[in-house]
Formats: sequence, C-alpha cells, structure tokens
Amino acid sequence: MEALEAILTRRSTRNYKPDPIEQKTLESILEAGRQAPSGGNNQTNHFLVIRNKDVLQKLISLTETAFSKMEPYENMYPSLKRSITASKKGGYVFCYNAPILIVVTNRRDYGNNMADCACAIENMMVAANALDLGSCWINQLKWLNEEPEIVQYLYGLGMKEYERVYGAVIIGIPASPDSLPNRGLMPQKGNEITFID
Ligand SMILES: Cc1cc2nc3c(=O)[nH]c(=O)nc-3n(C[C@H](O)[C@H](O)[C@H](O)COP(=O)(O)O)c2cc1C
Repeated sequence: MEALEAILTRRSTRNYKPDPIEQKTLESILEAGRQAPSGGNNQTNHFLVIRNKDVLQKLISLTETAFSKMEPYENMYPSLKRSITASKKGGYVFCYNAPILIVVTNRRDYGNNMADCACAIENMMVAANALDLGSCWINQLKWLNEEPEIVQYLYGLGMKEYERVYGAVIIGIPASPDSLPNRGLMPQKGNEITFID
C-alpha cells in the first residue's frame, strides 16, 4: 500500500480478534514509531509493549477503579465523562480487549513529550493499516498519568521514575468478517484550510 493511501484509509478499530500478531510484524510497527520525528531529535519516547493478558487485565482494573472514584461535571471532555460513567457501572474495558497495548511514555519535564508521542502513535497506526491490522489511540492512561497506583504499577513494567504516559495505541487483527480494518472515508466536519497566496 502506498504511503498516502495508508494515511487516508486509516480508521480506528474498536473490535479485535484475540489472536496474537507475528513478532516481525509488530517489530515493523514499533520501528515506524521509533522513526517518527522528535523535537530536537530527542528520541525520548519509551514504548511499553504489553501483550501479557494478566498485565492487561490489571491495567483494566486499575483504570476502572481510578475512574470510578472521579465525578463527572457539566463541561467535562465527553470521552472522559463516558469513561467515568462506564467505570461506575462496572465492567469498563478501556482497551477494547485488543491483544496488544503499546503505552508511550516520555520525560515529564520535556515540553514536546505529547507531540513526540503523537508523532510516534500516528506512525504506528498508519503502519498497522499498511500491514492490514487495526489500531486505535487509547487515551485513558494519559488522563490518569499522575494516578499513584497506576504510576507505581507502570514503574514495575519498566516506566522510568522521570517518565509519564502521554498516549497509547492498541493493535490487532480486526474482528471483521475479512479480518481487515474498516477503511471507509471519514467525512471531515472541521480541519479548516486557509490558503494565503
Ligand atoms: C489524541 C487522541 C485521543 C484519542 N483517544 C481515544 C480513546 O481513548 N478511545 C478511543 O476509542 N478512541 C480514541 N481516539 C480515536 C478518535 O476517536 C478517532 O481518531 C476519531 O473519532 C476519528 O476516527 P478515525 O480514527 O476512525 O478516523 C483518540 C484519537 C486521538 C487523536
């Protein structure tokens, strides 16, 4: 698939088969993330590649507990509000049961931490699409990136003391009849362009 086609047809996948993906394929996706641009060529993204089911389950339970302690308010970011409401009901799974969750951390004292993380995640999502895999940005661990219990648990997984989560992405085989990601065009309601000639 050509680069532009892979970019234009990338859509979020939120339903996955439990099957693992090949190590070589995963490494290609991670390399796409590692090769993303970074401010000042800092290269301080840190990719925690979580495939272990018990670890994923623990993160699911930690996020649900953290959200259920929070209270939604009127003008709250709608996705965050939905996470809180769903967690209070119980059974909230922030990562859609995908087989792989890649958590991207970076230095918390670095001004381009989220920008560098976003470049890496977009590269990985486009690479996943080019390789016929589904992906979706997952933001819950970013929202909870100062939650003490989650921070401690992530230290145990390899996050450094000076790092925090700035984004995450799930990757896997879509649970569609042909196992391919949805590649429908997304109607654009915003993202204005102004030419100044
Ligand atoms: C910064 C950012 C955070 C996002 N967080 C989530 C999320 O936590 N959960 C989710 O299901 N989708 C998340 N998304 C995916 C968006 O909902 C999705 O990209 C958007 O609706 C456009 O759809 P498309 O990706 O299929 O083109 C996020 C996307 C971005 C860029």
